[in-house]
Formats: sequence, structure tokens, C-alpha cells
Amino acid sequence: MLIAVLPGDGVGPEVTAQAVRVLRELGGCELREALIGGAAIDRTGVPLPDETLALCRDADAVLLGAVGGPRWDPAANVRPEQGLLGLRRSLRLFANLRPASIHPRLVEISPLKAEVLRGVDLLFVRELTSGIYFGEKRRTADRAEDVCSYSVEEIARAVRVAGRMARSRRKRLTSVDKANVLETSRLWREVTTRVVRDEFPDVQLEHQLVDSCALRLVQRPSTFDVIVTDNLFGDILTDEAAVLGGSIGMLPSASLGEGPRGLYEPVHGSAPDIAGKGIANPYGAIASVAMMMRHSLRREEQARAVEKAIAAALDDGVLTADLGGSSTTAQAGDAVLKFLTKE
Ligand code: IPM
Ligand code: MG
Repeated sequence: MLIAVLPGDGVGPEVTAQAVRVLRELGGCELREALIGGAAIDRTGVPLPDETLALCRDADAVLLGAVGGPRWDPAANVRPEQGLLGLRRSLRLFANLRPASIHPRLVEISPLKAEVLRGVDLLFVRELTSGIYFGEKRRTADRAEDVCSYSVEEIARAVRVAGRMARSRRKRLTSVDKANVLETSRLWREVTTRVVRDEFPDVQLEHQLVDSCALRLVQRPSTFDVIVTDNLFGDILTDEAAVLGGSIGMLPSASLGEGPRGLYEPVHGSAPDIAGKGIANPYGAIASVAMMMRHSLRREEQARAVEKAIAAALDDGVLTADLGGSSTTAQAGDAVLKFLTKE
């Protein structure tokens, strides 16, 4: 198995280094590193060099740290984020899985009440390669436009992933849109209804408007199982949902297409304010390795072992600054490895 490792920017390299230690411990993989994002712009002038894309196409899975930061001008023609967006699009990774649940140890650091967090176990499936992110963009002196467009097939394939996930969980699916205003959302609702009715009759589907979903996520989050939504709504809601995991540093993600190949990255970004200090939380990156074992390498036992090792490290009180502790990035990695090898 070939794994492409793209550390990227900010805290990306620090958290990726810990995830790589876990990958090496699990064994059976050849790891090859490549440039992406701002780091790639600095070295090659482009955010997604051909070499990086070629490596990722050859690989069975990609592990990514983070891209972006204030060093690179958001108004420039060449931006770090284009590296990640280009990679998702080129590899046709149209379904982004972002699970959220909370370890008991972290309940007290959450701004939400313990009773609100009780029983939270949800999974976002965010459409990742279409919608307003990839529609036509236009700019004149006094106007800017971003076109949001979805085809039936683009919606259907994301919903199918969500349907399969719901089937393997509690069989409840919430589809989130803004069908009271947006035409793309009305199509989204129609297609979702049809796909679930025809292909997932055992899954219970409900529709919810994005604004009321945002409210319900912090008011009654345990009432969700799987949530499927478009690219932009998914971007926003998954950051909101990160609070359900105690810290955004905890959350992993998987981006999948038709085949087994996937891209795995923590949900947190490059966190430039703490980059280089060795204090970033690596658990989200390490949990992304667990998702890689599950979805691309089909090594479910190892996926569970990594998840158990993270839980054991938290039980042991190995908490980074965002979790209210003083453990370093490397100490958190040490703890996961210790519990992984104890198994
Ligand atoms: C995410 C990030 C990216 C996105 C950025 C870095 C382009 O916010 O993965 O959620 O908007 O998709
Ligand atoms: Mg985001």
C-alpha cells in the first residue's frame, strides 16, 4: 500500500508527523511525502505541483495536514487553498465524511452543557466537489459572482454515500438544504427524496433547512445520526459541529470517491497562531489515520485499535492546550503509540 503524505502549512507538519508515527507502527505501508499549499507555492510557485498530483493518483490513500495561513495573500491569484480544492476535485473525492462524538473526559471543556452532549454521535456527509465552491466566478469593478450549480448525479452520488453510512449506523438521515429560497436546494431535496425512497427504503429520511439545523446542532445534537448536505453548508456546519467533539483539534475527516482511494485530514486548519510551538493537538490527524484504515485500506481492526489508543491517551489525561492540558504534540503522539503497542 502506498500512502502519500502531504504535511502542508502551519501546524500541518507537526500533527502529520505524529500521524506518520502511528502509520509506521501499523506497518504494511510505503510512505512518500510531497508538497501542497503554501509550502508548495514557496518552493515551486504553485499550490498543487504535478509531482504531488501524480503521487496522489498512484497512492492508495493520502494523508494531509493543513493548508493556508496569513503569509499567503488571500487576494492573490495563487493561493494555498487551491492545492486542497484542486486535489479533491482531481481525485473526484465527492463525499466528505466528518464524524463528531465526544470523549467523556472532554465534556467539561466544552462550552455546551453535559446534558446537551450526552449521546452525541453524528456523521456529516458533505458534498465536496461541486456547488458554489466550483461554480463559475466573475468579477467586475463593482460586482462579484459565485455560481452555485448542482447536477442530479452530483447530488445522487453524495446521497448514496450518506445512505450507506446511515445503513451501517442508526438508519436515520437528515438532509440539509435551503429549499425555501434556493433552486439548487429544491433539486437537492427532490433527488435526496428519490434516492432514499428507491435505494434505501430502510433508511428514515427527514429534511431540514440549514438555519434551523445550525440551531439544532447546539441545542439537541444527539437527535442526529447522519447528515447530508451541500459543499458550502457542509463547510460551515462541520465547523459548528466541531464544538461537539470538545475541540476542533479532535476531529478527523475522510474524503471519498467511487473507489477505495481517499484523502484523510484533520478538520482543523493550519492554526498559524500556534504553528511551530509543538503544542497543536494531533488527535484529529491520528484519528484520520484510523479512518484511512477503515475506508481505504479496509483494516477495520487497526482502525478500532487506533481509536481505542486515542481514547486511552485521553483517559490517561494526556491533553493538549486546546483540551485544557499542557501536553505537547509529541507527548500526545507518544501516548497513542504507547497504548497502541500495549494492545
Ligand atoms: C475545510 C476547509 C477548506 C474548505 C478550505 C481550506 C478550502 O475549510 O476543509 O473545511 O473550505 O473546504
Ligand atoms: Mg472548513
